[in-house]
Amino acid sequence: MGLSDDQVRYLVAQAADVRTRAHAPYSGFTVGAAVLADDGRVFTGANVEISSYSHTCCAERIAVFTAVSAGATRLVGCAVVTDTTPPSSPCGACRQVLSDFSHDMEMLLANVSGRVDRLPLAELLPRAFGPDEVLRKIRARHGHD
Ligand code: THU
Repeated sequence: MGLSDDQVRYLVAQAADVRTRAHAPYSGFTVGAAVLADDGRVFTGANVEISSYSHTCCAERIAVFTAVSAGATRLVGCAVVTDTTPPSSPCGACRQVLSDFSHDMEMLLANVSGRVDRLPLAELLPRAFGPDEVLRKIRARHGHD
């Protein structure tokens, strides 16, 4: 796929590094994520658990929201690092968030033992719902289509 071996190594290393700062006192399940924007910038996130559990936020969403907040809305890759075998896959909510920004990005599902599974995000979220669908409907309603 599109990412070079160097990009893969760098993204996985960044995700592994931010994972060490995950705040997971309840589950003990620590996740690190790193996204690569099309302008070369990398943004990271670790999961943050909240005592009122439902307010917890996954690593992937924190990485994407950090990227978007910095003006990076075109993402080409996302590494997710856990200490599980096989490497964990993003939850459904994170798949949707990643897909809204770039359905065609490459996913790197990695673990601390060095395994990296590469696959397109489209494989994790086939026939995705997306922004175009909503925007088309809104424009039609307002008579722009
Ligand atoms: N978690 C993530 O950070 N990413 C995922 O895609 C799945 C789950 C976190 C949330 C929670 O802090 C812990 O892993 C256990 O569910």
